[in-house]
Amino acid sequence: MKDTYLSLVNGPLKQVAKTLGLPQPVELNRFGSTPEDYLNKPVLVLGTGAGAQGLADLLLENGLEVRRNAQTGEKLRAIIAVLDEAQSPTELSPIVLEVGAALRSLVACGRVVTISAAPDAGSQSPDQAAATRGITGFTRSLAHEMRAGGTANGILLDGVDLTAPSVASALWFLLSGKSAYVSGQFLTVSSDAGERLSLDAFMSTGGDGPLAGRSAVVTGAARGIGAAIARNLARDGAHVIGVDMPQAGQALASVMNEIGGKSVQLDITAADSAEKIAEAVGAPVDILVHNAGITRDKMLANMDAARWDSVIAVNIAAQTTINAHLAEAGLFADGAQVVSLASTSGIAGNRGQTNYATSKAGVIGLTAASAESFSTRGGSINAVAPGFIETDMTAKMPALTRQVARRLSSLQQGGHPVDVAEAIGFLASSGARGINGETLRVCGQNMVGA
Ligand code: NAI
Repeated sequence: MKDTYLSLVNGPLKQVAKTLGLPQPVELNRFGSTPEDYLNKPVLVLGTGAGAQGLADLLLENGLEVRRNAQTGEKLRAIIAVLDEAQSPTELSPIVLEVGAALRSLVACGRVVTISAAPDAGSQSPDQAAATRGITGFTRSLAHEMRAGGTANGILLDGVDLTAPSVASALWFLLSGKSAYVSGQFLTVSSDAGERLSLDAFMSTGGDGPLAGRSAVVTGAARGIGAAIARNLARDGAHVIGVDMPQAGQALASVMNEIGGKSVQLDITAADSAEKIAEAVGAPVDILVHNAGITRDKMLANMDAARWDSVIAVNIAAQTTINAHLAEAGLFADGAQVVSLASTSGIAGNRGQTNYATSKAGVIGLTAASAESFSTRGGSINAVAPGFIETDMTAKMPALTRQVARRLSSLQQGGHPVDVAEAIGFLASSGARGINGETLRVCGQNMVGA
C-alpha cells in the first residue's frame, strides 16, 4: 500500500511539514534505486588498531573511496567505527566523539556501522563487558538520532576477528541499499565459515549473483513478502521452488512464471510436505525459506482451539517438522541455509496475538537451538523479524492505527516486502554462513520491541 503522507512531505507539502515540525520521512535508497552519486561518496573509517587499518584496506580493495580522517566540507556515505579492541568504557570517548563530529557530513540515507567484540559476560572482564555492552547501547541510541533515512547498526565479533568472511558480507549488506529498513540492529559473526565475497560479487545479479546455481524453496510464495523473497532470490541467481496452498495456485504460478521458478501446491502442515518439497527440488535442498504464516487474532479470553492450533501448526510446528524430516532423510545439501520468518510480535508480544506471538517467539527459539546442527553440515539457520511492512495484511488496519504504526519507527515509515526479502537473500548467501542462530529485525527500529 502506498504511503501517501511520505509522498506529500517529499513533494508539495515539504515546506509545510518542516514549518510545523511534522515527521519528514525520506524515500529510502534501496538496491537498484541508490544514486551513483551516493555510491561514489567516501566512507570514513575510524579506529586506531590494526583491525581498523585492515578494514580500510578491505574497502579500498573493493573499490570504495576511503578516508581515515574527516575532511572539512566533504560529504560521506558512511562512517565505520572500529572498536574491536575496546577494553573499558572510558576508552570509547575519542572514537565515538569523532563519529559525532562527522555525523553532519553524512548524505541522506547515510550509514553508521560499529564493529566491536560481542558482549560476553562469561569470558570478558567486568570492564571489557561494560565496554562491549556499552557499544550496543551507543549504536541503538545513535540509530534513534539518525536523520533523513540514515541508519546505525553494529557488527559483533563473537570469537572471530575482522578477517572472518562473514564480516565482509555483513558490511556490504549494512552499507548497501539492501539494508535500507534495518536500523539499530546487530549482526553477530560467530565463526569463520562461509565464502569471502567481494562487494561486486555481493551486489551482482543473475548468473553472477551470490546465490547462483543454488536451489531455494520459499513457502507462502504466492503473494506478499513470500513473492518478494522469491523474486529477490531469483534476481540473485537462485532457482526458486515456490510453495503455497492449492487455493493460491494461480497467484503462485504467475510469480513462478515471472521468475522461471517451479510451483508446488501444498499445505505445509500436511504430514508428507517435506517429502513433496524434496521431490520437487529433485536434489538436496540448498536454501529453505520458511515464510508461510497466518494470523488468527483474538484476545486470549476469547481464543478457541481452532485459532490457537492453526497458528501454531502453520507458523512453527510445520517448520520444525520439515527441518527435522529433511535433516533425517539427508535431504539438506552440504552448506544448506535456512531462513525463517519471525516477527517483532514474537519479541515484544502484541495484544490480541498470544497465539501468533507464541509461534513467532517459537521461531526464534527453534532457530537458535538448530544452529549447531546446521553448522555441523557447513550451513546456517537464521530468522528475520519484520516490523510494520506495507502488505495486504497491514493495509487492512484502520487508517489512523496504520499511520501511527508507520511513524513509530526511527525511519518514520513502513518497510516494503523487498526490505525483508533483501535481509533473507543476505542470510541465505554463502558469505553469511558465519552468522548462525540469529534473529535480525527488519523494522526501521520500530519502538515495538525496541
Ligand atoms: P500473506 O498472508 O500475504 O502471505 C502468506 C502466504 O502464505 C499466502 O500466500 C498463504 O496462502 C501462504 N500460506 C498460509 N498458510 C499456508 C500453508 N499451510 N501452506 C502453504 N502456504 C500457506 O502474509 P505476509 O504479510 O506476506 O507475511 C509473510 C510472513 O511474514 C508470515 O510468516 C508473517 O507472519 C510474517 N510477517 C509479516 C509482517 C507484515 O507486516 N506483513 C510482519 C511480521 C511478520
